[in-house]
Amino acid sequence: MVETRVVADALSGVSAGQQLPRNAATLTVTAKEPVAEGVVSLTLAHPEGARLPDWTPGSHIDLILPDGMTRQYSLCGDRWDAHTYRIAVLREPAGRGGSACVHDRLSPGDRVGVGGPRNHFPLVPSQKYLFIAGGIGITPLLPMVRQAELLGADWQLLYGGRTRSSMAFREELRAAYGGRVHVVPQDELGVLNLAAWLGTPRPDTKVYCCGPAPLLAAAEAVCASWPPYALRVERFTAAAQAVPVRDAPFEVELRRMGRTVTVTPDVSVLEAVRRAGADVLSSCEQGTCGTCLTPVLGGQPDHRDSVLSDHERAANDCMFLCVSRSCGDRLILDL
Ligand code: FES
Repeated sequence: MVETRVVADALSGVSAGQQLPRNAATLTVTAKEPVAEGVVSLTLAHPEGARLPDWTPGSHIDLILPDGMTRQYSLCGDRWDAHTYRIAVLREPAGRGGSACVHDRLSPGDRVGVGGPRNHFPLVPSQKYLFIAGGIGITPLLPMVRQAELLGADWQLLYGGRTRSSMAFREELRAAYGGRVHVVPQDELGVLNLAAWLGTPRPDTKVYCCGPAPLLAAAEAVCASWPPYALRVERFTAAAQAVPVRDAPFEVELRRMGRTVTVTPDVSVLEAVRRAGADVLSSCEQGTCGTCLTPVLGGQPDHRDSVLSDHERAANDCMFLCVSRSCGDRLILDL
């Protein structure tokens, strides 16, 4: 049995006295194992073995690390296992320290704060799917291929990576699904040939793509002639954005708190509402992870995220506070 410990203040995700955001829970790391070169998987469970919140393929959680760092990771385990979550983390030497912390500091028995799960990359019903993964982008697609298989859909997975040894879950996928999985290590076979796979639009097929920005851009370019919404992508880096609609200050009413704050051009809405005492969880602060999603009760947001579809933006009923702003003088938020 794994011994549970809460590591000292500077080293743990949850330290004595640390205030977690209101929607976060404390879970225990029950297993940590290498799953590819530079990639470890973590298994998380409730300290008392309680059931965890349900999730669906494409969901992610927020891991709350030392010093309040929050990082977003896709759930890549079995969604029907109600008692554990699994994530996989790629060490990113040029990153901001989150992946290094997971690799170097977290051990089985440690406790971490966990927010979510949330899903901004849901699997929509379809008879056919083409899944395209680049590197660690395989993680949200793993539960999707399981779901597609379970539902009897016709699916294929195109999985590219630098080298065979850097491609997490490659063996697991090949063993479970055989010829449906096409593994393309770049050093052996070159880059993914998207034109060959996506060159001809197929109206009955949904395409899900996750990986580095150049892969997503290439998929979007090749799918330009496909039906609207046929391609769905999940980004780890922000897409290019138009300039803000307005550069003047605007007011944000925090309806439940009974407060109104002024947002000047030099601060984000997230920063402004936090200064007013609102407790909003964030992670990427680039509009890519969806963590800071907040319901909008009034006004028109100037959406500047890389998550919402055009259709979702048009509803004007939610926004990502880290990057999005206001088209008008006033926004009303459900905070
Ligand atoms: Fe990631 Fe706002 S913190 S979208």
